[in-house]
Amino acid sequence: MFRKTVLITGASSGLGAEMARQLAARGHDLALCARRTDRLESLEAEVAAAHPDRRVEVRALDVTDDEAVFEVFRAFRADFGTIDRVVVNAGIGKGAPLGTGRYDANKATAVTNFVGALAQVEAAMEIFRAQGEGHLVVVSSMSAMRGMPRSMTTYAATKAGVAMLAEGLRAELYGKPIKVSVIYPGYIVSEMNEGVEQATPMMVGTEKGVRAMVDAIERERASACVPALPWEPMKHLMKHAPLPLFRRLI
Ligand SMILES: NC(=O)c1ccc[n+]([C@@H]2O[C@H](COP(=O)([O-])OP(=O)(O)OC[C@H]3O[C@@H](n4cnc5c(N)ncnc54)[C@H](OP(=O)(O)O)[C@@H]3O)[C@@H](O)[C@H]2O)c1
Repeated sequence: MFRKTVLITGASSGLGAEMARQLAARGHDLALCARRTDRLESLEAEVAAAHPDRRVEVRALDVTDDEAVFEVFRAFRADFGTIDRVVVNAGIGKGAPLGTGRYDANKATAVTNFVGALAQVEAAMEIFRAQGEGHLVVVSSMSAMRGMPRSMTTYAATKAGVAMLAEGLRAELYGKPIKVSVIYPGYIVSEMNEGVEQATPMMVGTEKGVRAMVDAIERERASACVPALPWEPMKHLMKHAPLPLFRRLI
């Protein structure tokens, strides 16, 4: 099924911005939001120049502002008439080892990545239930496969949490016209991981990584580790490797 209008949160940089470019190239209209509206406006101009037939609307949104999440999603629906797909993508990669005095960073990660995602899922589902159809896409992470040490602990927990929200909905909606996908990206170049590129041989470029994400989204895969290589096989290793081996892997 072709989902014409796609709402993407966290569209001002990285994976969200590149998903917008690639989905526009595939014929989708776009509802884009994030806090940095200057970035959204440049992206809107870029997409309009490359694909003049596409419609793009942008709005400022901080996903930690619950009320704003509902207002902005409803406003986008009013703009387009229908929202066919929502990509819950906004996220931060802050975080510090637990008990090292950085509760502020871990809480910010939990509030943005989990509570913010919960608000987005609620707002999206309100629209999809009213329409009787839609496609919810949640951007999780390969780090959701197993509890992660050090600065990744809270981040990984939030990403496991959002995946479980989506899986619960999928079980509830089984056989109904509202579909749910969970995308588990591996390392893909973005602002979030600037600086770690050299240290991580499994990192792929933004365009390549996002192409794998967009392919999985367009096929409405229930869940997809992307890019499939190495991450589909890595999923099993991450889940089942004995702890001494797992600690050497990450
Ligand atoms: N890159 C990877 O390797 C990787 C791997 C696994 C999962 N992911 C996930 O992919 C998603 C996108 O991340 P990215 O890698 O593309 O990082 P990024 O370049 O830092 O982009 C993050 C996006 O989230 C938005 N955002 C952050 N906090 C927000 C808030 N409070 N309200 C609204 N928007 C907010 C940012 O926009 P503003 O700052 O303008 O608001 C930005 O557009 C995240 O959920 C991340 O956890 C990434």
